[in-house]
Amino acid sequence: VKAAVFASGTGSNFQAIIDDTNLPCDISLLICDKPNAAVIDKAKEAKIETFVFSAKDYENKAAYEQEIVDILKDKEIEWIFLAGYMRLVGETLLGAFQGKILNIHPSLLPAFPGMDSIGQAYEAGVKVTGVTVHYVDEGMDTGPIISQEAVSVFEDDTKETLQQRIQEVEHRLYPQVIKELIKK
Ligand code: GRF
Repeated sequence: VKAAVFASGTGSNFQAIIDDTNLPCDISLLICDKPNAAVIDKAKEAKIETFVFSAKDYENKAAYEQEIVDILKDKEIEWIFLAGYMRLVGETLLGAFQGKILNIHPSLLPAFPGMDSIGQAYEAGVKVTGVTVHYVDEGMDTGPIISQEAVSVFEDDTKETLQQRIQEVEHRLYPQVIKELIKK
């Protein structure tokens, strides 16, 4: 089974996924919408093929998503794992990969969707936040939840120490969920 990761940034989750030697699928492709993203270097290092695009070069979302769908189908990719992909997925991709697109989000959804969820949770003063892996639908961080893990916020946490603990959970939870889903 082949899968693609979509990412726009640092790529620590991408790295955690590809570093897992027991994954039930091959990560055959990285899709990235930011030409300078650090995740591109991580893919190069791991010799994983990468497709980089700039949304502004296309007429609309349907146009770049159709190109992505064509690439994924050509490579016989069945699963898509979003890992810090900073765009809403549109109907072109959703229609072509129904029930096969996952996302990871650094909060206990439906709390704190969108940007800077860790900062939002920290500022709100919650005592428990966490990580969610969910199916992707047309909304922002709204699809059906697959798995969640709680992370406590300690009295002496800064946003940075909280972020570090949340990321450790992300890097363990995402490969774990992928294994559970794909063996079925
Ligand atoms: C992660 O916190 C993920 O949950 C969110 O974006 C961040 C990506 O980080 N959707 P990285 O690029 O994987 O380091």
